[in-house]
Amino acid sequence: MKAKRIIASVLSFALCAGAFTSVNASGEGILSARSTTVSANDNTATAPAETPSESVVTIKLGDLNGDESIDATDASTVLTAYANLSSGKESGLSAAQIVAADVDKNEKVNAVDASNILSYYAYRAIKGRRSLEDYLKEPDKAMEELKAQGVTSTATTTAALTTTSVTATSTATTTKMIPITYSSTTTAVTTTKPIPITNPITTTTTVTPTTTTTTAAPTTTTTTAAPTTTTTTVAPTTTTTTAAPTTTTTTAAPTTTTTTAAPTTTTTTVATTTTTTTVTVTSTTTTESADPKKVSEIKLSKSEIELKVGGDGDISMVTMLPATATDKREIWTSSDENVATVNYEGWISPVGEGTCIVKVQSVNNPLVSGEIKITVIDPNKVREIKLSKTELSMPVGGEGISMVSMVPANAPNKGEVWISSDESIATVDEEGLIKGIAPGTCTVTVYSRSNPDVHASIKVTVIDPNQVQRIELTDYELDLLVGTLGISYVTMYPETAPDKSELWISSDNTIAKVDKFGNIYAVSAGKCTITVYSQSNTNVKAEVKVTVHNKPVATSTTTTLTTTTTTTTTTTTTSTTTTTTTATTTPQPPVTTTTSAEHLMMTRNGATYVDGILVVNKTYSVPKEFNAGGGLNENAMAMFKKLSEDAALHGLSIVCSSGYRSYENQETIYNNYVAIDGILRADTYSARPGHSEHQTGLAIDVNSISAEFANTPECAWLEKNAHKYGFIIRYPKGKEAITGFQYEPWHIRYLGVETATAVYNSGLCLEEYLGITSYYN
Ligand code: DAL
Ligand code: ZN
Repeated sequence: MKAKRIIASVLSFALCAGAFTSVNASGEGILSARSTTVSANDNTATAPAETPSESVVTIKLGDLNGDESIDATDASTVLTAYANLSSGKESGLSAAQIVAADVDKNEKVNAVDASNILSYYAYRAIKGRRSLEDYLKEPDKAMEELKAQGVTSTATTTAALTTTSVTATSTATTTKMIPITYSSTTTAVTTTKPIPITNPITTTTTVTPTTTTTTAAPTTTTTTAAPTTTTTTVAPTTTTTTAAPTTTTTTAAPTTTTTTAAPTTTTTTVATTTTTTTVTVTSTTTTESADPKKVSEIKLSKSEIELKVGGDGDISMVTMLPATATDKREIWTSSDENVATVNYEGWISPVGEGTCIVKVQSVNNPLVSGEIKITVIDPNKVREIKLSKTELSMPVGGEGISMVSMVPANAPNKGEVWISSDESIATVDEEGLIKGIAPGTCTVTVYSRSNPDVHASIKVTVIDPNQVQRIELTDYELDLLVGTLGISYVTMYPETAPDKSELWISSDNTIAKVDKFGNIYAVSAGKCTITVYSQSNTNVKAEVKVTVHNKPVATSTTTTLTTTTTTTTTTTTTSTTTTTTTATTTPQPPVTTTTSAEHLMMTRNGATYVDGILVVNKTYSVPKEFNAGGGLNENAMAMFKKLSEDAALHGLSIVCSSGYRSYENQETIYNNYVAIDGILRADTYSARPGHSEHQTGLAIDVNSISAEFANTPECAWLEKNAHKYGFIIRYPKGKEAITGFQYEPWHIRYLGVETATAVYNSGLCLEEYLGITSYYN
């Protein structure tokens, strides 16, 4: 019975080498101690019984079949044993093979060992020269070393051991074989290659031969060796058996090996002379991607799997390519069996919380593998806390809460533990209610009671309701032309703060100045920062990045026009009529025309017209005598009347508060404002004499000339409807830097219905619409 044989060999091993071997519940061969020197008393049906105490043989780790090469065949043997044990059968390994198989020396023979052997085989195949033990200490580093040398994974290599020795230490005259039996579906090569374990006293190198008989066959080699002194010398690619013949006949108990490792070709060349027999065994591994019989790719149906502790396992289906590959066997290993295990068929079972990698390798081509990331979660344990808010702001004395949801939602213990990083700023009760104690910031953290590693935090800001906490601006960047004005409107929060006074500072007054109201004056080309602080809480500020550009250079031509007038004088006498025609030339006021890409500009009598529209602003003035005493333009007056009447139909009252102003009127108004606010400030809302549209009779201020007007229904109606009567809101909000004046919702300018509607629809202010500037020279 084979089962008994295994136990017997295990016991024998334990007795002779001081080691104990058993088979655990999962089917892995467990070694309680290990040694590479084992008893040769490895009785099998094919080997004759031996005296246990006298037979000791040194076995190379990883080389289960003793062919002096650690390769896919060895891995296959381990894999077969592992599969056998996993499915309740006997392993088929001898005690010596169990020791040789446990390459990671963890006292288990399992798929990891097979995987390690395969990996090492692959490493050797691409010219790796470390020993197996040395390689397994740091496989990644070993591969990196090779890569650094420019070695690729496609190579034709002779795989062989760096050192292999079979040492006999017995005086017995029989040679014993370690039987190795493999079987698989594919038979590539059949080699009968006995490992001679002889029992002489010495283990030296050469023995003088006398008679040797060698029987060689293409795939079967039987070496009959003289037993008293046998030395087996193994070179990396050559095995030489020198037999010293005397009277003893060594019969090599033949081992039949059926190998399935497709890439391995074993060539046995037998050379015979009268005195020595040389057996050369060459294993050639050729990795060629075009080989249709060789696995070149592994595809997995899943690259990530999440499992639950105590829950079901799962599998990722494997496809080995090409489909024509003949050997599609797999080796499955887990990087952490405390997290998940995998059986020889790839079934992954959860063990404990954590992550690990389950790897599948091709036995046929160990360079090819696939990986699945496994995450095992404990469904009873909270693993994440989600908060409805991660930032909370509240006044001193105020309260706030952030709703908690624990993941998984059905965790049995979802208890919370709340902690504030600074209770002098904010406290938190056991249900997560946060109370503001004093101005400042702190962090409130909620922990899972069942799993305190899991937590989430809220940044809490407690504000003083009497102190400004934040400033918002309408503009954080302004582009201004030299000489123009810019404004970024300020809102301070909380709105309950009683003192919202502003403090304005420019980083460079040579580029842009700012007054106490926040009016920014562009001085010279460059960049600077204008900062506004809350005067009551100077920790709070906001910044405007200002870029000042030079004024564009306009090209202009001046033409003096003349008009020819023909005067006809008729003198009548009694007899004759004499007609004298005299032509005289009368000089006209100079007209300057400037042609830009789209606009025609001309000046006449000191006034400027762009595309025929009279323009008056900071750049363009009208002379003192312009329209002197003229009053409101008749058309403007008529249309305003209509506008006012139509507004009244909607229950709105729109009246003229300020219409035509003479140069002198404007001078008085402007000087008044300068006296109150100073020139800089006055220039933001009051035009200098000569620069006011009111002097043209085309502008009207309606209703209340104050910011309050902006909040009236009349203002809203006017904004939507003024153009229908030929008016535009001349100084719109947001265009201050372009018009040169603050937002004046009450100041309307008559352009005629067609032009006013076009300007309204364009969304532009008049300066933009006409392509002109507005700044004082
Ligand atoms: N308020 C406008 C700009 C003016 O004085 O004409
Ligand atoms: Zn006005």
